[in-house]
Amino acid sequence: MCDMNYFTSDANKIITIIFVKSPEDMDIKKERCKPKMTHQIFQKESIFGYNGLKVKLFYSCYTYHCYVEISYLDKWDDTYWGLKADNIIDCLSPWLREAMILNKADFINILKNYERSLKYGVSLEEFDHLVLPDRNILGSIRICDIKDKEFVKLHQRFESLIIMYIDAANFIDMTDNNWKVIYLYEKKFVKPNVIRYTPIGFATIYIFDTKKIGRISQFFITPLYQGQGLGFIFLRTISQYLRSNALDIKKISVESPNKLFTYLRDKVDVSNCLDLPVFTINEIRGGLASDAYKRICSNFKLCKKQAKRIYEILRAYYCDLGIDDYEEFKSNFIKDRKIEILDLRIYPKRERDYQLKLFESNIAIQNANLNKVFENFMRSIQHILLYLKTRI
Ligand SMILES: CC(C)(COP(=O)(O)OP(=O)(O)OC[C@H]1O[C@@H](n2cnc3c(N)ncnc32)[C@H](O)[C@@H]1OP(=O)(O)O)[C@@H](O)C(=O)NCCC(=O)NCCS
Repeated sequence: MCDMNYFTSDANKIITIIFVKSPEDMDIKKERCKPKMTHQIFQKESIFGYNGLKVKLFYSCYTYHCYVEISYLDKWDDTYWGLKADNIIDCLSPWLREAMILNKADFINILKNYERSLKYGVSLEEFDHLVLPDRNILGSIRICDIKDKEFVKLHQRFESLIIMYIDAANFIDMTDNNWKVIYLYEKKFVKPNVIRYTPIGFATIYIFDTKKIGRISQFFITPLYQGQGLGFIFLRTISQYLRSNALDIKKISVESPNKLFTYLRDKVDVSNCLDLPVFTINEIRGGLASDAYKRICSNFKLCKKQAKRIYEILRAYYCDLGIDDYEEFKSNFIKDRKIEILDLRIYPKRERDYQLKLFESNIAIQNANLNKVFENFMRSIQHILLYLKTRI
């Protein structure tokens, strides 16, 4: 059989990630999920050389060791056309690294010996989060010590998961002390006074000492715990921590945020700012005063761009409530962008007249583009506007 399609599989479909706490869990059909992406592991997210291929990645919930189980119905004959079937283990191993276990008995031993997971780090927050009226999650958010060798081993196993969930993810250099690693644990009482800690998320932040910037780099919640409000609690605690005096950070920034993270960030920043006197409708209708900008940036360590975004989200929200005028907000938004574009200081003096004329002669084009910019902005904040409405 030489049909290439017959021997080609979509890696995102044939990989299953299974989270297990005990050997018995390996046969249960729950706690399973699919990777979101595999392009870093397999070229074009496709695996050649097998028919009926199934790759199961069993992750221990406590230690993040990962047992890899591969099965298939038919395999490509490597003597055909000098073409070889992909070596799945070779493709996985640079990413799973120390997490990878190929022997089932070894993995079962690990599951048996690590029934209790260890908690690392120092607590930043302990919380009790109501997910549903009859379901709550107890959690602990902890700043971990990257000089602790046992923690580093755990982290190197846990971070293997992000390759399948964060676009262009890579691993951090755990010998660089400027990295801060913060863990989210679920806490469960296994006996009245005994708590079991399960790591369910982590964030890494790089501290640029000289610029006094804290840049959130990776932010991850394991798939089974996503969409339950934990990301919001986790990010809120992290930004509180980054604002603490001990770190002396002037600005919190984020490395290539995706749509979901941008929403989470807006949600945290808007929640922080909504009740401040400087953000009442009367204060912001005519534009945010520059000292108010400065105060917000300094209190919440926001960069100017994010502070402006929060201001614009709140104005859009007031328009939705009918207490601000939509057309006035839109015209202020567009005027503000024009001023930004028209920043003539970037041109040498002799060129400024020319640049101004050029801009004015293109005013129709500018207006058209800026209308689009406004529409895109409004579209991008619909989710956060919905959140604000439910908050009241
Ligand atoms: C991004 C991430 C950290 C969010 O964490 P989370 O615990 O799911 O976040 P929350 O439950 O607090 O959800 C925040 C909002 O996003 C929504 N949401 C969560 N997962 C979603 C999904 N997969 N699709 C659409 N919306 C989603 C929630 O409904 C919630 O909206 P709400 O305010 O209306 O309730 C998590 O989904 C994740 O780890 N994703 C993979 C890694 C990643 O993309 N990291 C960010 C870039 S580094």
